[in-house]
Amino acid sequence: MFYITTAIDYTNGAPHIGHAYEKVLADVLARWHRMCGEETYFLTGVDQHGQKVQQKAEEAAIEPLEYAQQVTQKFTALWKRLDISYDGWAATSDPRHEKCVQRILTELRDKGCLYKKSYKGFYSVRQEQFLTDKERGEDGQFGSEWGEVIELEEENWYFNLTAHIPWLREYVTKHPEVVTPEFRRQDLLMAIDRSTNDLCISRPKNRLSWGIPLPFDPDFVTYVWFDALINYISFAGYASDGDASLPSFGKLWPAACEVIGKDILIPAHGIYWLCMLHAMGFPDEQMPRLLVHGWLNIKGEKMSKSLGNIVDPNDLCDLFGAEALRYYLARDTKTGYDSDYDPERLRMIYNSELANDLGNLANRSLNMCVRYCGGTLHTPSSDDEASAALRKSLDEAEKTFARQMDACNTADALGALNAHVSLCNGYIEQKQPWSLAKDPQKAEELQRVLYHLLESVSHVGFLLGCVLPEASTRLLDQLQVDANGLTPQSLAWGILKEGHQVQVPSPVFPRILTPEEKEKLAAKAAAKAGKNKA
Ligand code: ME8
Ligand code: MG
Repeated sequence: MFYITTAIDYTNGAPHIGHAYEKVLADVLARWHRMCGEETYFLTGVDQHGQKVQQKAEEAAIEPLEYAQQVTQKFTALWKRLDISYDGWAATSDPRHEKCVQRILTELRDKGCLYKKSYKGFYSVRQEQFLTDKERGEDGQFGSEWGEVIELEEENWYFNLTAHIPWLREYVTKHPEVVTPEFRRQDLLMAIDRSTNDLCISRPKNRLSWGIPLPFDPDFVTYVWFDALINYISFAGYASDGDASLPSFGKLWPAACEVIGKDILIPAHGIYWLCMLHAMGFPDEQMPRLLVHGWLNIKGEKMSKSLGNIVDPNDLCDLFGAEALRYYLARDTKTGYDSDYDPERLRMIYNSELANDLGNLANRSLNMCVRYCGGTLHTPSSDDEASAALRKSLDEAEKTFARQMDACNTADALGALNAHVSLCNGYIEQKQPWSLAKDPQKAEELQRVLYHLLESVSHVGFLLGCVLPEASTRLLDQLQVDANGLTPQSLAWGILKEGHQVQVPSPVFPRILTPEEKEKLAAKAAAKAGKNKA
């Protein structure tokens, strides 16, 4: 079972390009594992509780639940547009989740992992956390990133996090697979050594009411992170008493891949979450694996409201199409590292790798097959060096694609496919099928060339299905290839059989025009229309 999840998105604002990147990355990996024939469960959702949501709801003069649901709809609408193939939806206001969180709280309290104490200190309203001297800047003040800082004395419930730190240090040291990439695990190990406080897991209701009530102390709600992290197990069926609307936990857990951004590894996932599971009694073999991606920045700067540089993925779908955006996000970001969002690069990569390289290859090959051979393919009965090299290149591209996808490196996986496509275009230039078609003596060679091209496009079109599901379906339709029963592992030369019929193609990857190109085109059309009138 490949159980893959993502962070659940805060419903305190609209989705942005960073959210879209994480979801596309997880979706590509989920589709890849499904394509390989692995049973796969993809969970994603929204994080609906907490101070920020309560504040936004107050500003909008509506109930927090209503506000959270309005924002939730923006996320679900975007995931539909981007063809995100999740199997389960984790919304933290779901009663099934609340029940599970309360059950875990009760169990942890019964085990003695939770205690109540009073604390007085400085509190950041924006970050919803008490600040310590570590958070003070060089001038001794709390920086502007904390927003409004107030002095507060409060009784709260605490989770005995520090009691689990020795276990965590040993676990993370001995299990390099727990965090990918490796340099993030090193960061985590250093953070573990600095971890000296227990975790406050409650908020007094008079300050924050929008949360899950503590089952044993009605004056408090659960801290939003403690609540949100539990989604990975609550929606996987943990402690659900066999609720048939949820998956069977034993089948899913542990998560093969929890996809998160670098900002929420420390302390949330790398420290709180693993210690929470340990406190609940999960053994070492039942710990999830964390895949940590980098940030998508804008011209080297962090996206932020104050900079006014937040990119709405919906605008990009309008401008370029959902699949162009999917390809760009999967192709131009090396998993684990930061990357700059740049619409010029999106256009360039799409036009060069899809419109020019693959689109032209598919179109030319199909058109030539229809024009020269009535759309009928014949398996070659002889060979030559260039064709053998092409088959070798395809085989290597497929192996690299699989290896990189297994390692969550979508960028390098797609790079390998594109390299093969380029080689195919070179093979066309070398072989000049249009000249071969003029010479009846060369009929066999022409058949061989077309076969090698269309077999290549079939393989590439199939594998691309995990990144571009729609384009892949259209390509395979034109090729008349049935993807049912195909897997990357069983993909071998010879999908196309003797006498295979292909269809007249229609372009799958129309070029994305620059605004100037669009203007020129419109001017031309207008001039033509004017002439026609005259
Ligand atoms: O952190 N580039 O929610 P969130 C790439 N609710 N990824 C980004 C990004 C960017 N510019 N900005 C955000 C939360 N992300 C919590 C998670 S999980 C139990 C609770 C990523 O809406 C971020 O790293 O702020 C996180 O993985 C996800 O988007 C949701 O961020
Ligand atoms: Mg965040």
